[in-house]
Amino acid sequence: YPCSDIKIVEVGPRDGLQNETLLIPVEQKLQLIHRLQKAGIENLEVGAFVSPKWVPQMADSDKIVQQLGKERRLDPGTKSKYTVLVPNQRGLESALEHHQGIDEIAIIAAASESFSQRNINSTIQESMERFKDVIQHLKDFNDANDTRSPVRVRGYVSTVIACPYQGSIAPTQVAKVVELLRDLGCYEISLGDTTGVGTPGTVKNMLQEVVNVVPADQLAMHFHDTYGQSLANILVGLEQFGIHTIDSSVAGLGGCPYAEGASGNVATEDVVYMLEGMGLSTGINLPTLVEAGEYICQVLNNRRNGSKVALAYKGK
Ligand code: HMG
Ligand code: MG
Repeated sequence: YPCSDIKIVEVGPRDGLQNETLLIPVEQKLQLIHRLQKAGIENLEVGAFVSPKWVPQMADSDKIVQQLGKERRLDPGTKSKYTVLVPNQRGLESALEHHQGIDEIAIIAAASESFSQRNINSTIQESMERFKDVIQHLKDFNDANDTRSPVRVRGYVSTVIACPYQGSIAPTQVAKVVELLRDLGCYEISLGDTTGVGTPGTVKNMLQEVVNVVPADQLAMHFHDTYGQSLANILVGLEQFGIHTIDSSVAGLGGCPYAEGASGNVATEDVVYMLEGMGLSTGINLPTLVEAGEYICQVLNNRRNGSKVALAYKGK
């Protein structure tokens, strides 16, 4: 098989929760993270150092990474890798105050000008200039802290298929933004179908352009499941292009505050079930993962679980 080395990035604690109006206490967010870890999840996106006025749910991200840093000191052998979103210099400075709980930062760009404007209040060009400063600052931090492994930079491109404000996005435009992030030094670039409108057809067209600028092993698929196409789209990326990094969210939680109507990410349970069924090992224990999803649905006032696999497991 072309891609035996699957990497799942669990974005539930960040993407999954950021749009929830019910403010969830730090203890419950940590409980979710711990349950995901118990299921064997290693890569977790745990928070965002963005403006609390823009995304109130992420305002306690400092407390989350502070605690995760403490836990790591007690268990230095842990395989967990923690990511936080950082939109600007201010976010980086706050994040680095708790760097023991952070392995990588993710910068958030968009393929669409209108989405960039709404999401991070800047043009694509301006955002690249900001990210350049952020990355320079991070390099200085890494150089000054050579006793710990360097904090890495992941890049996001949102609206890779369509934008909620300006419609279809040309694959060449996506490739252009991917190239800009690559030039900034992102080790991995995650392609966000923010509104979940992509199909195997449009995803294939987009990926065909993108793999011309960045190889498959430096790409990730970040698909929202609004139209129920995510698993099919992931299969296209996996089988036809060899992309083996998949962002997903337990119980299919999520949505973007700047993409009204967009539903959650593809459910981690569904991705794991599909991959294991294909003979690809994820190292994730499905029943324990289902429990983690049930837990957070309970916390969210008994939200219906967005994972079909979880519903099947529970006989619902
Ligand atoms: P701005 O208004 O242009 O920033 O926002 P500003 O520099 O003018 O500052 C305005 C206020 O925000 C000031 O406070 C700053 O101090 C504060 P005030 O003086 O008004 O009290 N501020 C901050 N506070 C905390 N942390 C910070 C920070 N920066 C400024 N880092 C900004 C620019 C980027 C900050 C803003 O637009 C923002 O926070 N946007 C949030 C974006 C976001 O989190 N979106 C959701 C995540 S992206 C996503 O979900 C897509 C993804 O999943 C992929 C996909 O699905 O496609 C990744
Ligand atoms: Mg997203």
